[in-house]
Amino acid sequence: MKKIMIIDGGPRKNFNTASMLQKFAEGASSVSDQIEVKTVRLYDMDYKGCMSCMACKVKGKASNVCRYKDALTPVLEEIAQADGLVLGSPIYFGDVTGQMRTFLERLAFPWLSYNDYSLTAPKRMPVVLMETMNGTPERNNSNGYGSMEHCIAGALGQPTHVNAYNTYQVNAYSRFELGGFSEEAKRRYRDEHWQEDLQRAFEAGRKMAEGVITQ
Ligand SMILES: Cc1cc2nc3c(=O)[nH]c(=O)nc-3n(C[C@H](O)[C@H](O)[C@H](O)COP(=O)(O)O)c2cc1C
Repeated sequence: MKKIMIIDGGPRKNFNTASMLQKFAEGASSVSDQIEVKTVRLYDMDYKGCMSCMACKVKGKASNVCRYKDALTPVLEEIAQADGLVLGSPIYFGDVTGQMRTFLERLAFPWLSYNDYSLTAPKRMPVVLMETMNGTPERNNSNGYGSMEHCIAGALGQPTHVNAYNTYQVNAYSRFELGGFSEEAKRRYRDEHWQEDLQRAFEAGRKMAEGVITQ
């Protein structure tokens, strides 16, 4: 069996980010029954960011998997042995969510050597980074995964991006104080793009699984 880990960094269980990740999972699972896809929802878990305990950097006992023990520990250990990794997050104030960032601190700090600033994960693997946002490809404020992307690229490998733009933030705009958005324009954009976005997520899942299965 090969394992692909999906990390959902959004709070909403049935909205844009979760739907894109679900399609990715379907695409990956469609390739072979030898592919196991596991989705972890960060908002369902009780965990901290890097505690600066430095346990991962103790002389003679250095570890490139976080040694701090909480609910995230088994997830980080599973990722260390996985064959592919997918991260998904809505964009909040230009960045990934706080939960995603907090998770990434725990994932990436043990990779970083303060001896030579190299980045080493237990295993390299294909990575897909997903974002969903109000912004459009032409006009958005997203920094995406920011400085964490450099760490991911160095330790796991160059990531591929799958984004969904100009998503529906609510189902019925008329019920909310969202006057800055034209529901008509949102609907038009969604009608043109949303199914394609989901299809791109599916294809990305298929592609990762095909790569993983032939390793
Ligand atoms: C607290 C908050 C902050 C947001 N900030 C941004 C932003 O800075 N840029 C943007 O394009 N969209 C922003 N959005 C919109 C979301 O990124 C967008 O609706 C996303 O698709 C939501 O994902 P979800 O449906 O999986 O929850 C924000 C939404 C919330 C709730």
